[in-house]
Amino acid sequence: VQSKEFFVAALQALRKIRGGGNASLRIHCLHACSVFFFQHGHTDAALDSAGLLEHIALQSRSLQALRQAYSVKGVVHADLGNIPEALAQHTCALEVARKMGDAESEGVVLNNLGIAFNYAGLHREAAACLQKVAAIARPEWKLPVERKALSNLAQSYLALEQFSRAREAMQRCLALRSPPADASARMDQTICEFTFTQVALEMGDNELARKHASQCAAHGYAANSIRCKIMADIALARCDVREGSVRNGLAALQQALDESRDLDSSHFDALVALVKAYDEVDQPEPALKHMKLLVAHVHKNRTGNIRTLLAMVGESPTDSDTGSEPTLHVLEHRLTGLRAKVAQREAANSRIEMLERLAAMADLREDSSGEHGYRVGSLSALLALSLGWTAEAAADLEQAARLHDFGKIGIPEHILGSSHSLKNVEREFMRMHTLIGAELLAKSEVPQLKMAAEIAHHHHEWWNGNGYPHRLSGARIPIHARIVALADVFDALTHGRPFAELWSVEHALQEIRDCRGTQFDPELTDRFVELVERLDAEHEDLDAFLGKAGLKSPFLQARNRVRELLEEASERELHPLH
Ligand SMILES: [Fe+2]
Ligand SMILES: [Fe+2]
Repeated sequence: VQSKEFFVAALQALRKIRGGGNASLRIHCLHACSVFFFQHGHTDAALDSAGLLEHIALQSRSLQALRQAYSVKGVVHADLGNIPEALAQHTCALEVARKMGDAESEGVVLNNLGIAFNYAGLHREAAACLQKVAAIARPEWKLPVERKALSNLAQSYLALEQFSRAREAMQRCLALRSPPADASARMDQTICEFTFTQVALEMGDNELARKHASQCAAHGYAANSIRCKIMADIALARCDVREGSVRNGLAALQQALDESRDLDSSHFDALVALVKAYDEVDQPEPALKHMKLLVAHVHKNRTGNIRTLLAMVGESPTDSDTGSEPTLHVLEHRLTGLRAKVAQREAANSRIEMLERLAAMADLREDSSGEHGYRVGSLSALLALSLGWTAEAAADLEQAARLHDFGKIGIPEHILGSSHSLKNVEREFMRMHTLIGAELLAKSEVPQLKMAAEIAHHHHEWWNGNGYPHRLSGARIPIHARIVALADVFDALTHGRPFAELWSVEHALQEIRDCRGTQFDPELTDRFVELVERLDAEHEDLDAFLGKAGLKSPFLQARNRVRELLEEASERELHPLH
């Protein structure tokens, strides 16, 4: 409490200082304040001091401080679950690090980006950033950036089920290991060993798993942290189950579950371990029971995060005053394009925009362009126009339709490794996105989102009553949802999902015609087929035409910018003389 008061007083004092004096000292203090506030869970204050840090950095042209300010903001936003904003901030930090020509800073930022992508379930993107760190790392760097990146990379590959790559990253990480000097290094090591135990278990190498679990316990029990202790308990218990002491192992996992009640991420780890362990010993019922608890847990956390975010957007934004003296014109110009334009919009619009970005993030898991929502939105609006709706009504529908799969954000993206029966269960849970989306959007208190809530709720109902979640039929399904259902299925068929292959436009339209009167409203089906045939003839690249609204999304822009920056870097390495 005393430290907090001290840092709050320091921040207030720093805020009062006018002019450009003692910039480097002020920068130093503000960075310390931001880090303290973040580490102790005072996220508002952390964002506040990072905002002031950014302001002074721009004023005094300190690129190093500017990079730090963006990094702090990115880490705080990631912690709040606002991954799109976190990515935008980290991307700004990456641009600054590039401008500085400082490879170590670049490594730090790419590692942060990798963590944020992993957190969002975007493991491929994470792996690209983390591999880059490993490629540019130098032995003389002061921070253990490479080791951290390799440990995170092992996590990405674990989630992608690329186990031999995970093992390779893990071995390279182990080669860089040094004895932990302090509590935070111990925690790092515990997390590493925990990941490595999981990799070894997935690869069926029980001996290696036991070795890493023992290491995890050695560091975890010495770290004096309940989080580390629970990780160690889980690692050991999973090895017990694997080696045949099923009863002991499961009991230890249950105990870890009880002890982790108040610790979100540990509770998540314990639930995942229980699902996997029960599945492994062929007890599908308790596996399913814990899977349900897991879904409920993720749902509760994410909806809590989203409510916090919505509440924040309703208030005056914290960083609206930071760019008022753009001394670094060129850079600033580029950065504003990426930064959320929250400050200039009225509250309702900002909320919708934020929801759109979160929805685009959820879409990315299934469609790498992230434009599914945008394409469904424009196709729905075009169908509405062809039905004679006003331009205004069609525009409202477009905005609402973009959020149709919003509820996917409340569902864990990837939990289970190899078991097919549980993968089917996972798909069953996916159906809950209709209820979760409806609940989240209805509670947001923005009147324009009423329609979005209705669409999220009913876009998987069938005309004949065989859909979900409520088996509504015919005209009892709201017309908005009936329109979106057509656009959604067409887009899914023509873009291939993880479980399905890619279809041509004709093939997809044939499928939709075949479902006329069963899945889809018959009259709307006829109009829809006419519309898409016309659009397909008029536009050489139908995708680009329908997805163009997505290009304006700050989240997708940031994501694409990261890709460009990664590519630029590889070209530089290939042609070192240019
Ligand atoms: Fe859906
Ligand atoms: Fe969809």
